[in-house]
Formats: sequence, C-alpha cells, structure tokens
Amino acid sequence: MQRTLITAALPYANGYIHLGHCAGAYLPADMYARYLRLRGHPTLFVCGSDEHGAPITIAAEQEGISPRELIERYHRANAEAFARLGISFDIYGRTSDPHHYAVAQGFFLELLRKGYLVEREEEQFYDPVAQIFLPDRYVEGTCPNCGYEAARGDQCERCGAYYNQLELRNPRSRITGKPPVVRRTVHWYFRLSAFQHALEEYVERHSRDWKENVLQQTRSWLRQGLTDRPITRDLDWGVPVPLPNAAGKVLYVWFEALLGYISITQRWAQQRGAPEAWQPWWTDPETRYIAFIGKDNIVFHTLMFPAMLMAHGGYILPDNVPANEFLNLEGQKFSKSRNWSIDVRDFLADFPEPHAVDALRYTLAANLPETRDADFTWQEFAARTNNELVAILGNFVNRVLQFVQRHWGGRVPEFAPVELLQEWERCAEAVWEGASPELSSEWTAEERLFLQELLQGSVHIAQAYEQFRFREAVARTMGLARAANKFFNDTAPWVTLQQAPEQCARTLFVCLQAVRSFAVLCAPIVPFAAERLYGLLRLPPQVGAPSDGMPGEDLWRSAVSPRLPVGHQLAAPQLLFARIDAERIERQRVKLYGGAAPMNASDALATVEDLQKLGLRIGYIVHAEPIAGTEKLLRLEVDLGTERRQLVAGIAQRYAPEQLLGRAVVVATKLKPARIRGVESQGMLLAATAPDGTPVLLTPEEQVPAGAEVR
Ligand code: MF3
Ligand code: ZN
Repeated sequence: MQRTLITAALPYANGYIHLGHCAGAYLPADMYARYLRLRGHPTLFVCGSDEHGAPITIAAEQEGISPRELIERYHRANAEAFARLGISFDIYGRTSDPHHYAVAQGFFLELLRKGYLVEREEEQFYDPVAQIFLPDRYVEGTCPNCGYEAARGDQCERCGAYYNQLELRNPRSRITGKPPVVRRTVHWYFRLSAFQHALEEYVERHSRDWKENVLQQTRSWLRQGLTDRPITRDLDWGVPVPLPNAAGKVLYVWFEALLGYISITQRWAQQRGAPEAWQPWWTDPETRYIAFIGKDNIVFHTLMFPAMLMAHGGYILPDNVPANEFLNLEGQKFSKSRNWSIDVRDFLADFPEPHAVDALRYTLAANLPETRDADFTWQEFAARTNNELVAILGNFVNRVLQFVQRHWGGRVPEFAPVELLQEWERCAEAVWEGASPELSSEWTAEERLFLQELLQGSVHIAQAYEQFRFREAVARTMGLARAANKFFNDTAPWVTLQQAPEQCARTLFVCLQAVRSFAVLCAPIVPFAAERLYGLLRLPPQVGAPSDGMPGEDLWRSAVSPRLPVGHQLAAPQLLFARIDAERIERQRVKLYGGAAPMNASDALATVEDLQKLGLRIGYIVHAEPIAGTEKLLRLEVDLGTERRQLVAGIAQRYAPEQLLGRAVVVATKLKPARIRGVESQGMLLAATAPDGTPVLLTPEEQVPAGAEVR
C-alpha cells in the first residue's frame, strides 16, 4: 500500500502561530494526513520549529532576550497550539536539536566532497559600528525593483523580487540604523546552476499534477536561469560550518532548515527505538513525498531542496508541493508588527469550549486560499458555525439521535427486508470501481436518492482530497449533510411513526448509518467533533490520528456501508456543536480593530498627496445622453470652469439624462483617460453606493463655482 511522507514547512520559532499560517500549510496538511490514515495508508506527518537565521536573532534582539530563550518560548507555545488545534504530527521536532546539527553538517561535507560546494570571496555589507556582517534581513533599504522603502536584504516583501543585497538602494543596518560599508568575506556557494537541466526535467515530469501557482513560479525561475547560491553566513547563531577555516560562519538557515525534514524524521525513528525506521520514508522510491507550504516558500521546495537531494544522492524528491496562497484577515494582510493577527493561542483562550476548535478548523478549511488569497472574517466564522456546522451537520445528527432515543430507547432500529442491506453493501463497493450506484426499485424514491448521493459522495470527497482540492472536499462533505437533512424531512419519520412503523424504523436505520458515515467523513476536517460523534455512537474513535507510520484498515471505503448493527445501544444524545453568538464576535472585532496599529503609508494606506493626485473638482453637467447598446452607461459633458470634459458614467439605472442637466458633481480630473464602449472618459464621477448597489451622485450642499477643488 502506498507509503506517504508528509511535511509541512517548519515555522520559525520567533512568534506565535496565527490563523494565516494554519490556512497556508498546517491545516491542509493535517486534513491530508488524516484522510490517508483513514484510508489505511502508511503515513508519516513531520514538522518542527525552524530555530536559526536572522528571523530568530532579530526577534530575540527586539525582545531583549537570547535566541535560545526565544526559541524555547515559541517552540513550546507553537507545539502546544498545534496539538490543541488537532494538527496530527507524528513528530514536532526542532532544528536546535544536536542531531539536526550533525545531519546538516554531514550533508554539507558530503556536498563539498562531491564538488557541489565552492568557496568564493564576495562583497557584503558590514556594519562598522556593530562590527558584524549584515546578512539578509539585517539590512534594509529601497527595493531596486519596485522602490519599496523597507525592503529586506535578500527579498522585497512588496514585489517579491530576489536580489543581491548590494543592489539595495539607501541601505541601512537594522542593528544601528547606520549605512553599512562593503567588505569582502568568504562563503560557500551551492552549485545550483549545475542542476538547471535536471530540475527542468523534474518539474516537467510534474507539469500535470502540480498546482498552477507552483509551476508558474518555479518555471519563471528556471527561465531566468539558476545561479549558484551562497549557503553560509557570517552569524554566530546557527549550525556552524564544519570546517577549520570557517570560524564565525554558520550554514544558511534555508540550507539547514530544509534538512530538518530529514533530521526530524530520524528523531522520530530514534524515539520509537528503531533508529533505521526513517529510511524507507526518505529513500524508497515507492514512497510518495508531499511537502505542504505557503506560497512564499515555493522555489525553496521545488528547486533548492530537490537540487540538494539530487546532489547528495540516495533520497527521494517531493512528488508534490501543494502551496497555498495567503489568508488575509478582515481584508488586510496578517501583520505581527501592526498587531493585525489572530494567534491560535489567543483564539483558544477566548474560545476554550471544545467545539470551537472544530468550528475554527471548519471555517478555515471551507475557505482555504487554495487558488487565490482568501479572507478570514469573524462574521464568516460565526456564519459558518451557526448556519452550517450547527444548523446542518449538527442538526441532522441531533434529530436522528433524539428520535432514536425517544422511540427506540437509543437502540439501532430494525431494518427490513435484510436482503436489501446486501445490495447496499454491493453498491458501496461498486462506487469505488467507478460505477454509478443504481439501487433497485425495492427502495423508496427518497432512500434511493439519498443513498446514491451518500455512496457517490464518499468517493468524490476522496478524490478531492487526493487532488489537494480541500475546499471542494469540505463543501461536498457539508453537501452530504444537507442531503441527509433533506432525507429526514422528506421521509417525515414523525408521520410514519404512527402510520407505517416499519418504514419509520427503516428510515431511522438509514439515518443512523449516515450518522456513522459522517463520523468518518468529517474526521479530517473536524476531528474533535468526529471523536465526540463516535462517542455518541459508542464506537471506538477513528479520526486519522497518528499510527506510527503503520498501515491500517481502509475505514473510508466502508464509511458509507451499513455497519451499525441492529439493536446496537447508543449513548445519550448530546449536541455536537454550539452556536457562537453575535456578542462574542463583536467583542473579537473590537479587540482586533482596537488593538491594531494604523497601517503605515508604505504598506497600503494612501497619503494626502495620493488624494490630491486624483484632482477632485466640482463640475456642472451640461450634456447627458444614453450610450446605445448599454443599460447603465451615460455619456456626459461636464463644465469644469476652465474646460469641458467628456465622461462616461454608469449611473443610468438611477438617473435619467434630463434629471442631470445643470447638476453639480464631484469629478476626478487627473485619472488616466479610459475608453468605455468606444467612448473616451476623461475622468470619473464620484458616487456613493446605495444599499441596492446603485450609485448616488455626490453634490455639494451649497452652490460652489465650477472647478472648485475638493479636498
Ligand atoms: N521557516 C520558514 C518560514 O516560516 C519555512 C522553512 S521550511 C523549511 O517561512 F523546510 F526550510 F524548514
Ligand atoms: Zn520590490
């Protein structure tokens, strides 16, 4: 059976994990791991803290503590946050582990021996006051590509460009704020360029199974041609370069952190008392390796890491790198420095009840930034919880369990005729062979409809997971819960109870089997709720938890078969989910907006100058006519005092041309002209948006002359 190794990007231990991180990599990776384990596949899910590099040392300096104290604090906190969120790592290791040092140094020496590392002298920024070299994030300056003023030494956060730090304009040391000088220093370069061809082949082999965003970024790097990369730095925090002439130098954090995947897997094996057990996961060509990451890590995993593994030899390469885009928070980027964030640990402190974790996972999973950036809002969190988890899934489970409790004393009712169960079983098998289930006419129309949807659904959800379409998996799962509610409504057991008791029992039997199906099918998304559900069914919980990399039974395949025996005693019903009330959501919003620092101008807010750029002026409409072939557009002529302008405005739904003549409006006069339906618009009218979405023109309250400035 297919062995699958899953890794998720090692988060820096320099801050608390927030919801953006979860949606980027950890939640989808966990859903995938749980899904595979439920399929019985041997699966190993590896992660840990990334504890070196400038991100760590700079954060430590800012907090006024040592790097060691910093990583202790955040490693612990993040390990706990992941555990409470139900991220089912087989191991959450760390790169400060001495074993990791040994692995990274050994790997370095092997590449050196094979001739893939070369020593080169290079020029680098040096802070003459602090007397240290300034790698990566230790310098800041103006991006040579886009002009962003707070660009880091290695990469611009605004436009994504990677460059040599010497290209930065107006460089400043982040330690002393002073301009650095240029000094020569020696570094070891990894000959990435030697792998250009092999990497091109590797990427093209995956042109059909990798995500579009991943292929695009990777190919664009390949097209530009790969250059050799320095993999050492002048820093004192990190894995020392294991050579006699390299005092004060450490391995570049990316070089060693990627090897953390391997060293942490080895740690896992050691902890199990089987030190060799890591081998098949990394060296057997039959193993599939899936590396979950966020989009800022793509080329490190599709080019750099594979090249390192090829250079060393003996390792398998990633089969897929399903990178997600970013999650925003209420319309803005997550930002630690602006305090615009929701840390997992804050969420858990404010929502300690067990079902809240499931609600969070569900909300994030339903809206993962899979193909484009997505947005988390507190409103959506409440809506998804109340209208979907509670009102659909929770409601179905609860009404079924209550009904069975009340009328059968909580025992699985009789199903007759029993022969039909074999047909059900057969169909549940057949759907996995690609057949569409066709239940015979012995079934009622409602039963046929619902069961066919359920059986087929379990296969479709599986396919969605296998193709990393997690949002679809979630939507389909909730879709089945919706169908289950409909089945309950349509069969009206409260009516048949009196009129056709046998049919009523049969309906509830079907419903109970579906409840069990949901315990399995929901486990990757809401594992804690699934566990509670197994409890209500008095079944051992099987929620895709770590299985030591061992194979197991394919529970998914039998998830929709009728496996709850007649007469089986259930536990007393309890609600699976609870509503989140509006007041709590409002408190969270107040906390978020109240605690946030204003965005700085270089982030996203416009300046007064930006506003002036628009050239807002008062104009008087002197001519108005519809534009033929359109419903919304009018061609206007506006008197601006010194000139007349032609504008195209989408206001015809609300204003007739003759209503507009002589009217004062606000015009943006300095916009680039645009052609709309063949008519040039030399500016734009300002209008407010009415609740129905139509525009309402802005007009000054008192008479002002044409051309008056608007500020
Ligand atoms: N720490 C890096 C980040 O948060 C990710 C490192 S992934 C690794 O962006 F594989 F290199 F560890
Ligand atoms: Zn830039």
